[in-house]
Order: sequence, then structure tokens, then C-alpha cells
Amino acid sequence: MGSGPILQLSGVSKSFRVGPRTIGRPRAQLRALDHIDLRVEAGKTLGIVGESGCGKSTLARIIVGLTRPDAGTVAYEGADLSRARRRPLAAALGLQMVFQDPYSALNPRMRIGDAILEPLLVHQIVPRAEAPGERDRLLDVVGLSPSLASRYPHELSGGQRQRVNIARALSVRPRLIVADEAASSLDVSVQGQILNLFSDLRDQLGLTLIFVSHDLNVVDHLCDRVAVMYLGRIIEEGRPSILREGALHHYTHGLASAIPQPIPGRRRAQPAISGELPSPTNPPSGCHFRTRCPARQPLCAEASPPLNPAAPDHRVACHFPRVSTPEAVGRNHAADDLTVSPSS
Ligand SMILES: Nc1ncnc2c1ncn2[C@@H]1O[C@H](COP(=O)(O)OP(=O)(O)O)[C@@H](O)[C@H]1O
Ligand SMILES: [Mg+2]
Repeated sequence: MGSGPILQLSGVSKSFRVGPRTIGRPRAQLRALDHIDLRVEAGKTLGIVGESGCGKSTLARIIVGLTRPDAGTVAYEGADLSRARRRPLAAALGLQMVFQDPYSALNPRMRIGDAILEPLLVHQIVPRAEAPGERDRLLDVVGLSPSLASRYPHELSGGQRQRVNIARALSVRPRLIVADEAASSLDVSVQGQILNLFSDLRDQLGLTLIFVSHDLNVVDHLCDRVAVMYLGRIIEEGRPSILREGALHHYTHGLASAIPQPIPGRRRAQPAISGELPSPTNPPSGCHFRTRCPARQPLCAEASPPLNPAAPDHRVACHFPRVSTPEAVGRNHAADDLTVSPSS
């Protein structure tokens, strides 16, 4: 795969009104997304990382048409999804989302077999007579026995429920799936199984995946590209090596330093990011990260750095990026090429 962009976001912004309603005073404005430009190549896996509240879920919801952007365009296979009736259009075009909480995504009073039949019939994916067979096939694809079809969601484990949600997403034959922390609420051992299922499905079905996660090890393992967000902006985008030694943005470098190391007792030399996350309703002027940045200069308060190309396949939004030695970058890129799918 890998034949041009399947998804392209240009200048996507979204604000929410928050706080109490007071007469004579407008409610505070929270800029959840600020001019997001992003391209996703067909058949590739993009990871989206960043601290809680940086806008990852808002971005995910806009991509699948659940939230409407205030500005900008979302082009999916040439169709503009930023307009009216985006959600039915997105589903019809094969865009699906898998959420963090597998239980709340399912109707507790509907047998799981019916939960999978429903989208098959609504979207007329197969003739009605063939739907039960297709339901059983989908259960099998996600590693569940078709004999579970008559169970209710509460009779399944968390991992099994998430497999049902994935089967539902797959039922409409999607080309792109957005998984928003889809394994985060599960036990660690089950998380690995669900992540492996995603990577197998990607390889077998040629799916494009957008993988939202706060777990940098997972993203490093699973993704071809990584976008790092901070307070509503993408501040760096590149290969997964930016989560190791290849970071050019000081924030990415701080995140990467905080990744728990698989070898006990071994720590990275650099400290993690210091200071508090600023209030999203009142972010710092210029570069939002400057209040926590070890390399800040007066310019950083005056001008917001654009997300500019720093190297082929690597964009960074920083006036004074880190200097990454060519040797370190070369080493990481070689390692990226070896990282095809998770081994755990
Ligand atoms: N519907 C909403 N109304 C008001 N504020 C929201 C809403 N959805 C998200 N936000 C705010 O937007 C910011 C980004 O949220 P979100 O996209 O959920 O971040 P993440 O998924 O990275 O944790 C947060 O400050 C959050 O509180
Ligand atoms: Mg979220």
C-alpha cells in the first residue's frame, strides 16, 4: 500500500465555550484545536500522542465526522467531510472509530451478534440472507467464537467487548479506522492482544490506522508516523524515532525521556518535562510550550512557530529546535525500518 494521502486535514480548528454562564460576560473560549495540518498515507499507521487535554480525542472525532470543525477542511479520499451530514457520509465512505471504553460503546440490551448485524443491515453491506454468515465471519476475524453471538455485553470480558467493537467497525468494510486509546482501559495482558489484533488487521486488510495513545512505547512499536500534540497544536511530526533520539522539539524530547525503559534499572539521562501544563483557556502567547521549555528565548513569546519541514519526512514547530546528530537520526531511521509489527 502507500499510494498517496487517504486523509488530509488543512487548517482544522475547534473551540469550545467553557465555564459558568455569567450575565454581561462571555464564557471562556477553549481552543481545543488550532490550525491542524495533517496528511495520512493510505495503508500506513499514524500515532497521535500528547498529554491529556491536548486535543487528541477532538481531532479523532473530527476525522470520523462526530464533531464539526469551526474552520478548515477534512478531505477523505477526495470527499470533504467538514460539511453537513458528515457522520453518515464518513461511515458510508468506510471511516470508523473504536473508543476507549468498550462497554459504553455497546448497547447493554442488545446481544452482541445483533450489534454486529445492525451495521451490516443498515449499510446494506451484504444481502439480508447472508448477514448471519457475515456476522459469524466477523466474530472469527476478531478472534471470538461465533457461539458468543447470543451473549449480552455484560457477559463478556473487557477484551472480548473491545473485539466486538472492532468487529462492528470492520462490518462496514472500512478503509480507515481511528482507535482512540482503544486498549488503554484494558488489563495490560489484554492490551497486548488487542494491539496485536489491530496490527494483524492492518496487515491483512490493508487498513489505514490512526492510533491515539498516551503510551509512547505502543506508538513507537505500531506506527509508521507519529504526530505529537501540545495544547491544540501539532508541534512535531515524523518517524517513530522522534520518540527516541530523533526529537527536534524540546517537548517531544521531554516526553521521550519519560518513557519507562524495558530494562529495569536503566533510565534515560535527560529529565522529563518540568512545570505544569498551562490552562488551555489561557495558553501562553507565541509558542504554547515556552513556559516549560529549556531553550526558550524572547522570540518564543512573540511569535508562534509554524510547523515547518526540518528534514525529509520530519516537521517541527520550534524557533530553536534541538540539534539531532546525523548519526543518531541515521541509527533511528535504520531501526524504524526494522520495526514492522509488534513482537509482543
Ligand atoms: N465538548 C466539550 N466541551 C468543552 N470542552 C471540551 C469538549 N471536548 C473537549 N474539550 C476540551 O478540549 C480540550 C481537548 O480535549 P480532548 O480532545 O478530549 O483531549 P485529549 O483527548 O488529548 O485528552 C480539553 O481541554 C477538554 O477539556
Ligand atoms: Mg482523549
